[in-house]
Amino acid sequence: VDAKTPAKIKSKTVLTGVKPTGTPHIGNYVGAIKPAIALAASADKTLLFIADYHALTTEHDPKQMRAQIYEVAATWLACGLDPNKVLLYRQSDIPEVFELSWALACFTPKGAMNRAHAYKAIVQANIEKGVEEVDAGVNMGVFTYPVLMAADILLFDADLVPVGKDQQQHVEIARDVASSVNHLYGDLRLPAPLIGEETAIVPGLDGRKMSKSYDNTIPLFVDSKRLRKLVMRFVTDSSPPEAPKDPATSSLFMLYKEFATEEEIGALRKRYEEGVAWGHVKEALYEAMERRLAEPRRVYAELLADEARIDKLLAEGAEKARVIAGATMKRVREAIGVR
Ligand code: TRP
Repeated sequence: VDAKTPAKIKSKTVLTGVKPTGTPHIGNYVGAIKPAIALAASADKTLLFIADYHALTTEHDPKQMRAQIYEVAATWLACGLDPNKVLLYRQSDIPEVFELSWALACFTPKGAMNRAHAYKAIVQANIEKGVEEVDAGVNMGVFTYPVLMAADILLFDADLVPVGKDQQQHVEIARDVASSVNHLYGDLRLPAPLIGEETAIVPGLDGRKMSKSYDNTIPLFVDSKRLRKLVMRFVTDSSPPEAPKDPATSSLFMLYKEFATEEEIGALRKRYEEGVAWGHVKEALYEAMERRLAEPRRVYAELLADEARIDKLLAEGAEKARVIAGATMKRVREAIGVR
């Protein structure tokens, strides 16, 4: 997300969805949460929703589902999302999404779903494992996932959809579906993905991209002791302290830049050039992270202890969102002729 170009964004509607799966980690914070909150400050209108029915494609444990919905909501609120400025709601609270999803399915070529990467990856894995039924493990929710996502986006006339690279294709599918509908009725706004560049890859503890699937993450709200322990576990090379080091290729420095002030970044850059011990860099990183995360961590715990408050905020968001959703569906129903 390039929040440095507010001019481009001023008159735009920005919308994104977050699947309630897994505990949020530093990679989510740096790559998605922080830039989206910054973006919200400059956009005309920002919507952020919890994509619970997308999570249902893989999450079939109701306890987990419920807990993760609260976790996601509390995470974003604790990180500074202001529900008075950003429309925050739960996807399943908006019945219009599912109505639009069906209508859009009737304009979506099945071939486009065959080519969607998440579905293709499962099929490919089945082929490689020699599974006879190539669609084994694919429910219809997984298969039609991009249609539901198109409904999420098109229902709210979104211009820009901040997402990770892995979701770019889905936004492009939404755009294609909108085009097909417009070919006949000319009524839907065409969305575009907004992909973060600089911060697209947040390094994890082993230097690879921070990802749940690599088991190299730092959970966002671990207590300070554990945070320090994890930062100290970051892999580094065996160059001696006095050897000059290149900040541009240093995972620790990349992360430091996300948490430290300009001055601190400049100072550490100088230390790199002069030669610095990795232990010192880790200590500096831990301190910068702790300074930024201590307060959100406290608010997060407070919110999670008060689910009624989260329920209320989500209900208020849904009420406002449904005003927009209702108007779009009225337009769509009339356009397709069911009204
Ligand atoms: N598929 C997205 C993800 O896995 C979540 C999502 C659902 C979404 N609907 C959306 C993102 C609409 C942007 C817009 O991360």
